[in-house]
Amino acid sequence: MITVIGSINMDLTVGTNIFPKQGETLLGTFFEMNPGGKGANQAVAIARLGGEVSFVGRIGNDPFGEVLYNQMEKEKVKVDCLKKGNFSTGIANIILHEQDNRILVVPGANTEVTPKVIDEHWEHINKSSIVVMQLEIPVETVEYTLKKCREHKIQVILNPAPATFFKQEWIDLVDYLTPNEHEFEAVFGAKVEQIIDRYPNKIIVTLGDRGVCYHDGKRLINVAGYKSRVVDTTGAGDTFNGALAFAISKEHQIEDALRFANIAASISIEKIGAQGGMPILAQVEERLSTIK
Ligand code: RIB
Repeated sequence: MITVIGSINMDLTVGTNIFPKQGETLLGTFFEMNPGGKGANQAVAIARLGGEVSFVGRIGNDPFGEVLYNQMEKEKVKVDCLKKGNFSTGIANIILHEQDNRILVVPGANTEVTPKVIDEHWEHINKSSIVVMQLEIPVETVEYTLKKCREHKIQVILNPAPATFFKQEWIDLVDYLTPNEHEFEAVFGAKVEQIIDRYPNKIIVTLGDRGVCYHDGKRLINVAGYKSRVVDTTGAGDTFNGALAFAISKEHQIEDALRFANIAASISIEKIGAQGGMPILAQVEERLSTIK
């Protein structure tokens, strides 16, 4: 079983042709409300592919929380460790503009995923072969869980997003770290090529439609991406992380796992919403067969 520990949000998405300036009001092109949150997205990505996945998180005692809970159940994510907190459900304000997005998250109940919550659900988490985390829950919880997983020999994939909260000393506690280029620079204060060789087979840098790169101990390897028809890139990174966890749980070698995850992410951006375009296994296999 894979366990994702992380955020769950209601995504409030608006489209616009122009970004408003400070103090300016403009008319947008559309509005959509969709389930999101990096943690929930990663869990759904795994479930869509047919993986057994459990989610540890907190929703608010409000209508958004109810919608999100039902959606997770519908997606066949195990929700035994998804409980109601005291704050309101997390939301993400997303602006889509020129095939890209800007996101502002108000975490709400996600801040209630404390180390105590990890202890409360530890018996469950301890049954996992892989734990996946991101940084939209409190840092102390991430740190606590990293240490506990290391102690219990559970593999960890950490997606350092948002990167501001990453701590350098965590690097020894993770099996895979999956920043994008900007996150890599924010975390390490250096360009990818300058220092990635220090972390062979551990740091996987996502490069959008250029694929991903990692160092295998001898050389820098680029696993090519796939240029798809972009509708909404929200959740592409989450699909990548979920698919990577799924592939690793199926014991794919790293390069194959990355190719698989790249393709899953390329399919996810062809529909609106973070979870809207996440593929099932057959879709990934079909596209993979066209590039092999
Ligand atoms: O990675 C995309 C996600 O980031 C969105 O679903 C939003 O909720 C934010 O967490």
